[in-house]
Amino acid sequence: MKIGLLDSGVGGLSVLREIHRLLPSASLHYVGDSAWCPYGTKSPEVIQQRVFEIADYLLGHGAEILVIACNSATIQAVGALRAEYPLPVVGMEPGVKPAAERTRSGVIGVLATEASLAGEKFHQLVNTHASGVRVITRPCPRFVELVEAGILDGPEAEEAVDEALSPLLEAGADVFVLGCTHYPFLRPVIERRLPEGSVVIDTGPAVAKRVASLLPAAGDGPSGTIHIETTGEVDRLESLLPRLLPGLPVSSAACDMSKA
Ligand code: DGL
Repeated sequence: MKIGLLDSGVGGLSVLREIHRLLPSASLHYVGDSAWCPYGTKSPEVIQQRVFEIADYLLGHGAEILVIACNSATIQAVGALRAEYPLPVVGMEPGVKPAAERTRSGVIGVLATEASLAGEKFHQLVNTHASGVRVITRPCPRFVELVEAGILDGPEAEEAVDEALSPLLEAGADVFVLGCTHYPFLRPVIERRLPEGSVVIDTGPAVAKRVASLLPAAGDGPSGTIHIETTGEVDRLESLLPRLLPGLPVSSAACDMSKA
């Protein structure tokens, strides 16, 4: 079974690694739209157009399940994709529901892109699952830039994380949602800057479980292939991969959609 994944850039690799962990024999074909990154500041129309183009490409290359490994793209385009394509489409949303269930202070912080936080789907999520808690949102475009540049730790990352977290901590948040797939790559820095007892929520593992539920029960087959493409510069992707997916046997290439 071939699984196609897409994101605005390398962020969705945080979801790919969870899927590979759970389903090592699945073949994964990933497209990162780094030439168009970030999606978080783009209009819904632009995001939808990019997502449709990449989805067509992945389907044209044999994907049987599509994983939108991007909260912004899910929030802005998943409904349209599901209406258009006859295959299972797995999306992802900020983990507002588990956060609301786990807060003790009654305040949760949601870190996500502007595009996600502005989406109707996000407001529905908050109204449905978090009406009894205070939800403080915070876009972190700098996190996306850092991860795309391969800066996952050190003073620059710490400064960006402190700036993002301080208003949430001041407001008393005790649960922090990583509502963008780039952010889990900064999780070690984020966790170091949070007080003890804080909870960090990443929905990547839940997405992997959802994907597993759609596959026929797998035996101990041979390890699946992991092929990663970028619409951006392939040299740049190749220099990032050892940091983002250490130890994983991946192949990489430029994504040429004109040949879809
Ligand atoms: N990784 C994406 C997400 O989950 C978007 C980051 C961006 O391109 O702004 O929302």
